[in-house]
Amino acid sequence: MKKGKKIIVANWKMNPGTLAEARLLFAKIKRAASRLENVLTIICPPFAYLAAFAHSGATRVALGAQNASPQNGGRLTGEVSPEMLRDLGVSYCIVGHSERRALGETDEVIAAKVRAVVAEGMTPILCVGERARDAEGRYFEILKNQLAASLARLPRASFRTLVIAYEPLWAIGKSAREAMSPRAVCETSIFIRKVLTDLVGAENAQQPQILYGGSVEEENTAAILAEGGVDGLLVGHISLESERFITILKRADVV
Ligand code: PGA
Repeated sequence: MKKGKKIIVANWKMNPGTLAEARLLFAKIKRAASRLENVLTIICPPFAYLAAFAHSGATRVALGAQNASPQNGGRLTGEVSPEMLRDLGVSYCIVGHSERRALGETDEVIAAKVRAVVAEGMTPILCVGERARDAEGRYFEILKNQLAASLARLPRASFRTLVIAYEPLWAIGKSAREAMSPRAVCETSIFIRKVLTDLVGAENAQQPQILYGGSVEEENTAAILAEGGVDGLLVGHISLESERFITILKRADVV
């Protein structure tokens, strides 16, 4: 992907409730997104709907999964392997979303998933973010540890295809007013880049694209992209409202 394009990820989570609704939503987003030159839209539906959107032939729209098993094949009831996802034309995979971490996913498991996704030629969208912000700035340490542990044993060459989504938990699922300020997003994205530099050296650290997620709405899209120093956005609940999400895409296209 050309560097410079904004990445906007639609994380549908466990929605919508029926395939018919999912098809409608996908079609509306796809139609609008395919006209935007400066945006790559990545739609991440639940597993159950992925096959319906496999190889859709859409331009400027990519298919993403919300999770993957850390291995291919085996006795893992209920899991979906990176190999299966790749076969469906999935090119991105969210890994380590806070809602999965809350279900007990450890940094170690997340690191294994990142490596497994990369091994299938897909791009992981690694989610990191602190639960709360304390006055002493301990959240910086938390972020640093999450990044180091979630990227453990990832070959340096793979940083080329890595996307990191910074999602502070306290800002998820609310409204733009409660989202992080563009200035704080900028400060944190600089910090993430510095942690990456310490981990893999300045050159490799420049490669990953950094996104912000957490109550992105139409109102804060342009400011976060313009002033937040990030390459894109990860959008949760608003990505289920086609008109509002398309407005986000259009605003991102002209930042
Ligand atoms: P939100 O979700 O946009 O609803 O805050 C973001 C996310 O959890 O990925």
